[in-house]
Amino acid sequence: MTDLVTADYYTDQTVAQDPFAYFDSLREQNPVFREPHYGVVVVTGHEEVIEAFRNSDSLSAVNAIGGPFPPMPFEPEGDDITDQIKAHRHLFPIAEHMVVMDPPDHTLARSLLGRLLTPKRLKENEDYIWKLADTQIDEFIANGSCEFLSEYAKPFATLAITDLLGVPETERAEFRAILAAEGTHTVGALDKTPVGVNPLEYLEDKFMAYLGERRRDPRNDILSGLATATYPDGSTPDLIEVVRPATFLFGAGQETVTKLLSSALRMLGDRPEYEKMLRDDRSLIRPFMEESLRFDSPTKVDHRLASKTTTIGGVEIKAGTIVMLSLAGANRDPRKFENPNEFRLDREYLHDHVAFGRGLHTCAGAPLARVEGRVTLNRILDRMQDLKISEAAHGPVENRRYEYEPTFLLRGLKELHVEFTPAD
Ligand code: HEM
Repeated sequence: MTDLVTADYYTDQTVAQDPFAYFDSLREQNPVFREPHYGVVVVTGHEEVIEAFRNSDSLSAVNAIGGPFPPMPFEPEGDDITDQIKAHRHLFPIAEHMVVMDPPDHTLARSLLGRLLTPKRLKENEDYIWKLADTQIDEFIANGSCEFLSEYAKPFATLAITDLLGVPETERAEFRAILAAEGTHTVGALDKTPVGVNPLEYLEDKFMAYLGERRRDPRNDILSGLATATYPDGSTPDLIEVVRPATFLFGAGQETVTKLLSSALRMLGDRPEYEKMLRDDRSLIRPFMEESLRFDSPTKVDHRLASKTTTIGGVEIKAGTIVMLSLAGANRDPRKFENPNEFRLDREYLHDHVAFGRGLHTCAGAPLARVEGRVTLNRILDRMQDLKISEAAHGPVENRRYEYEPTFLLRGLKELHVEFTPAD
């Protein structure tokens, strides 16, 4: 058996399939523990992860996606490396996107997103999502079976964002086809170049064209609203500064939602008692989705770089230290969640999971992700009876075979084959 404390989290295929045992063994050493391969300080405690998320003054988000990859582009000097980070920021992966920015740039980028994600827009988007769920199910319902990720979750998550951003109806099929195509590179891949390719370039070209046109010739549509959005002080951003928060939504909201939906459906298929409970009382869908977020944490880990010497959970963190915030670990911390490896709808602190992060960078798409989960389960329960996991694909109930994506960043099934009887 591998000694889990000394396993290489970033490349180990076994740990990628079951990260929970790894995080447990680190937490048993200390909820704030330095792993031996890259000197990354791994935070697996619930309280400690929240403390770190809130300490944005000393913990920069510059390496949120890549963690120790690529290696640091400079040698940290002294107890405050804020200026060194500033000077080298452009060398970090996806430096142009808000998730790795720090204030004040982050505050400005996030303010533009706030112009888009208004309660009114989200409500209109929800109306579309109800229809979208049915359109997707229509594509395979008659077969009595589907591979849920490719036939439902991925196109559904992509099209929900095209609608949110107001992509013209006639172009949505193209978005679906291009974004569903197998990428050349998985974000968070276990090969030490996990962020080698910027997957958002296609989108950047598209949105530069849309928003440029709307700036010249505004109409009464969502893209025009985005194109003419201003900063809180009234100034007008460069076009690219509006394009990036918009395109980033695809990067942030497709894979994660796909993973959430498939883990929730797997649970329903494997535990028929939940299918019955949710059928009988649809109000249980909300707690079911929250527990799915805690239990399978689609974003397994996040990273920070200590910009100043600080502490987490009383442990000293020197400026220049790479910190991994394990959301999956925090969500299974037994000091917070009783019997954390049990899936339970009646658990105390059900809503206290950190699957969407905390603090300045808290997930901007959490309300949308929750709607997508709720609508999907409602329509699946309405339109499918006798939901079953395919034994041919995943083995018998007492010995299931599930394969997870080999990435250190996200947790999600590669495929999920289900069978059902159409209800309509
Ligand atoms: C279950 C689905 C999702 C999960 C688990 C998730 C998780 C997260 C997490 C953990 C962060 C914080 C990153 C950090 O602090 O470094 C984040 C940020 C973000 N998420 Fe999500 N996300 C989900 C869905 C979405 C969706 C659907 C959208 C939008 C369409 C979205 C948009 C964003 C954006 C824009 C940020 C960056 C916020 C910032 O830097 O201020 N996410 N997400």
